[in-house]
Order: sequence, then structure tokens, then C-alpha cells
Amino acid sequence: MAGRTAVIIGGTSGIGRAVVDRFAAAGGAVILGGRSQETLDAELARIAGAGGTATGHVVDMAARESIAAFFARVPHLDYLFAPGAAYQVASIHSDDHDAVESPFRSKFWGQYYAVHEAAPKLSPDGAIVLMSGAAGARPVKGASAYAACNSAIEGLGRSLAIDLAPVRVNTVSPGTIDSDLWRRRPARQRSSAFDSYSRATALGRVGTVAEVADAVLFLFGNGYMTGSTLFVDGGYVLP
Ligand SMILES: NC(=O)c1ccc[n+]([C@@H]2O[C@H](COP(=O)([O-])OP(=O)(O)OC[C@H]3O[C@@H](n4cnc5c(N)ncnc54)[C@H](OP(=O)(O)O)[C@@H]3O)[C@@H](O)[C@H]2O)c1
Repeated sequence: MAGRTAVIIGGTSGIGRAVVDRFAAAGGAVILGGRSQETLDAELARIAGAGGTATGHVVDMAARESIAAFFARVPHLDYLFAPGAAYQVASIHSDDHDAVESPFRSKFWGQYYAVHEAAPKLSPDGAIVLMSGAAGARPVKGASAYAACNSAIEGLGRSLAIDLAPVRVNTVSPGTIDSDLWRRRPARQRSSAFDSYSRATALGRVGTVAEVADAVLFLFGNGYMTGSTLFVDGGYVLP
């Protein structure tokens, strides 16, 4: 990855931050995106302190104009990973339409427009990794729009692999991952979710951010994979 540049939106926390750390440790330069300048500044200082190279700009993945403004400041990139998203999970019976539509707004359209803006600036031998989630392949009760959003992202990845070739486009689909997202939730809710997920998987545990970052770095680097979805889920989607 030395001499290469990756745009990582949502790289200030959780899975995105694990990818940032791996990429920077491999000698790559990172362009970070997140919603808070203060958080970005703290992360840029942390990366520089560890010997890495990074710059960063504020961006809101739920707002198309914000994504366009972010990429106007990016001259060139080799890799794109943009998992930064904030959404709610609501059931088919909910009348809270903002909540119901939020996964598509932030996670689907956010990644769609990030690719739209990045595509003209991507190296022909570069790669995009989209973020979905195992709930797309094996839904849980009460989360139909969220499940559909993840399936849509996987379909988008297959389609973009054709439209953007020779740029490679793949999707990573994690199961439940012990990330900062879960650590911010109440301990009781987290441990109940982790227990039920663990019972539903072949490997009997939740995943780590490092395990997802390994998969993303693999998809950045493997020159003959495109249009695939890689499940990092401990076997959750198996029947
Ligand atoms: N953790 C899991 O169990 C799991 C499982 C399957 C899929 N995923 C997917 O993985 C992605 C990241 O999850 P995570 O666990 O790493 O979460 P996380 O630790 O909460 O990290 C989310 C990151 O995204 C940024 N972000 C949030 N909303 C944003 C927005 N609207 N625009 C730009 N950046 C935004 C956050 O920074 P700021 O708050 O500073 O903006 C932060 O850097 C999500 O798309 C999620 O659906 C996670």
C-alpha cells in the first residue's frame, strides 16, 4: 500500500478506524472523512503520532452536497471505503418515516454518491470496498428496511463492478462486530445482542474490527476479485 492513497469516510471510529490503522501501517496515505472536525483533528494527531500519513475533511454521508464538497478537496485516490453512516432500525409497522428511510439515506445513498464523486479520480488499478451487513442475507425481525438496504448495497457492488471496470468493486458484509458503535450502547443491551448473535453463528462469538479490516485490506489488494460480497460473520448467514 506504500505510495497509495485511500479515502476512508467513517475512519474515526470502529471498523473504519481499524482499516485506517492497517492502511497507514502498510505505508499508505489516508484521507479521512467524518462529521466532526474535532474528532477528525484528534484522529489525525493520533495517526501522525503512530508515524502514519493522513489528512481529513468533514463530510456528512446523509447529504449529497456534503459528499460532493468533500470530494472536491480530493485530487486523486486509489482506494475508497466509506462505511460512515448513522441510521435507525425501524419495523414495517413504524410510522416514523425518517427512521425507516434513514439506512437508505445514510448508508446506501451515501456510498452511492461517494462512488459517484470518487469514480473520475480513481486510479484504473484502484478498488472500492462497499459496506453492507449480514442482516441483508439473513434478516432479523423488525428491521426490514435495514435488511433491504444491505441487500441493495450488495447489488450495487455487483453492478458497479461492471460499470467501473477495470476499477474493482467488492462489498464486505460483517456480522455483529464488537466495535465502538456497540460500546456506546448500554452494557445490558450489548451483552444481550452479543449473546443472541453468538448463538446464531457457527463460530459462537461476535467478530472484531481487526477481522473486518483484514477483509477490507484483502479486497483493496487482490487484483482478480470484483463484484463479490465477502461475509465476515462467523458463519451467521449459513442455514
Ligand atoms: N458494528 C457492527 O456490528 C456492524 C455490523 C454490520 C455492519 N456494520 C456497518 O459498519 C459501518 C460502521 O460501523 P461501526 O461499527 O464501525 O460504527 P462506529 O464505530 O459507530 O463508526 C462509525 C463511523 O462513521 C462516522 N459517521 C457516522 N455517521 C456519519 C455520516 N452521516 N457521515 C459521515 N461519517 C459518519 C463516525 O464518525 P462521526 O460520528 O465523527 O461522523 C464514525 O467514524 C456501518 O455502516 C454499519 O452499518 C457494522
